[in-house]
Amino acid sequence: MRTEGIAAIVTGGGSGLGAATGRALAAAGAKVALLDLNEAGAAAVAAEIGGIGIGCDVSDARSAEAAVAHAAEAHGPARILVNCAGVVNAGRIVGRKGPLDLAAYARVIEINLIGTFNLMRLVAAGALPLDPLEGGERGVIVSTASVAAYEGQIGQAAYASSKAAVVGLTLPAAREFAPAGIRVCAIAPGLFETPMMKGLPQEVQDSLGAAVPFPPRLGRPEEYAALVMAILANPMMNGEVIRLDGALRMQAK
Ligand SMILES: NC(=O)c1ccc[n+]([C@@H]2O[C@H](COP(=O)([O-])OP(=O)(O)OC[C@H]3O[C@@H](n4cnc5c(N)ncnc54)[C@H](O)[C@@H]3O)[C@@H](O)[C@H]2O)c1
Repeated sequence: MRTEGIAAIVTGGGSGLGAATGRALAAAGAKVALLDLNEAGAAAVAAEIGGIGIGCDVSDARSAEAAVAHAAEAHGPARILVNCAGVVNAGRIVGRKGPLDLAAYARVIEINLIGTFNLMRLVAAGALPLDPLEGGERGVIVSTASVAAYEGQIGQAAYASSKAAVVGLTLPAAREFAPAGIRVCAIAPGLFETPMMKGLPQEVQDSLGAAVPFPPRLGRPEEYAALVMAILANPMMNGEVIRLDGALRMQAK
């Protein structure tokens, strides 16, 4: 899909991979709306790229409905959705203090899985009635899984299962929307240098980076954004989850 003048929504756009994606989309001429729980972060990136920042909790139906409507008022219905909003939560299923708090588990599922589904349903509903573009395309949805979907480590039960569900959502969505020309893909990043990672001590970041076969470093958010742009550009890319990890395969811990 050509992105010039096309309305795009990026969740988690106030930080990390979402912010880099917003920048790449704007540089390619898209009209970008950044949705984030961190409204100030989204507004700051939006000001930089000439987009709009909208406060939104992706896990909440009403909040997402209002944010998608707000974006559509400004830019028209979005044909591009990139789901980057997400959270991590470490904790064993049964830790020293007993079983993992169920609400903590549910919150990760609500944001990473239900938040992804929530925006997918709303943006797809807005794109379905639009006229088809070149090649019959009406829209493209890219969600963010993780290599943890395949190699979840001890302590990542909540995160890994939420991301495995994002993998499982991709093909049925691509199949459902295929007759309308809306493609659905996901990216499974390895280890990327974002605020999520930068919270870790430098030596931990260095050792994580060194575990990546090649290149032996953390990924850069621009490299994630470059894959989003490649998916948008390539009409045969559909129903697929693409690892972006420098050949990293995570160990049990
Ligand atoms: N950084 C990595 O190494 C890595 C690896 C694999 C997958 N991922 C995934 O990539 C995505 C982006 O991560 P990142 O590294 O850029 O993290 P980040 O923390 O920099 O950005 C995530 C953004 O999501 C927002 N967010 C959180 N909960 C939200 C909610 N309920 N509603 C709306 N926005 C919400 C946060 O405010 C933040 O701005 C996440 O889904 C993450 O799980 C990251």
